[in-house]
Amino acid sequence: MTTRLMVSAVLVGVFGSLAAIPIPYHAFCSSLWLFEMPCTKISSSLVKQIEAFSPMIGCDKCHYQLVSATPVILKANHTSPDGLQAENITFTLNPTIMASGCRVSGQSISLGFTSLLDDGLNYCNLYNLLSSSGLTSSPGFIEMTNEWACLGYGLATCKV
Ligand SMILES: *[C@@H]1O[C@H](CO)[C@@H](O)[C@H](O)[C@H]1NC(C)=O
Ligand SMILES: *[C@@H]1O[C@H](CO)[C@@H](O)[C@H](O)[C@H]1NC(C)=O
Repeated sequence: MTTRLMVSAVLVGVFGSLAAIPIPYHAFCSSLWLFEMPCTKISSSLVKQIEAFSPMIGCDKCHYQLVSATPVILKANHTSPDGLQAENITFTLNPTIMASGCRVSGQSISLGFTSLLDDGLNYCNLYNLLSSSGLTSSPGFIEMTNEWACLGYGLATCKV
């Protein structure tokens, strides 16, 4: 009991000082997905979805922009509608040993120094692209991440 109280007092102290001192912290989400589909199909679906969600075509909530695309690496970014937050997004695609499968790793990282919680923003940046392009219901889809690799995972309710 006493120990627990001391621990929470220490934690309050730690988080209290974190709140007071702006330490450089970039919120991020890393995830890994498996598909029973060739990487070329996945990368073209992702590129199409990023382009469909680019502000150029007047999609209010989307605000994604493609930065670069090779068969292996896709780079994009996402900005909040108010323009105050921005995140870099990277997808890396590798064929699996199993014929015509693809292993995709994705990362979204906040460019600004944000708080320790991001309400699943970085997770949803990735997930919304996968779900809107139908990839989350494609054959063999498996998502592998956790709260340590992906802030807000498990709590996030992604709305597109
Ligand atoms: C996002 O990427 C586009 C295209 O490369 C670039 O013009 C824009 O400045 C980038 N935005 C941010 C916030 O990095
Ligand atoms: C975000 O992406 C831009 C352009 O690709 C790069 O110059 C910048 O270093 C990236 N920032 C972070 C925090 O990853």
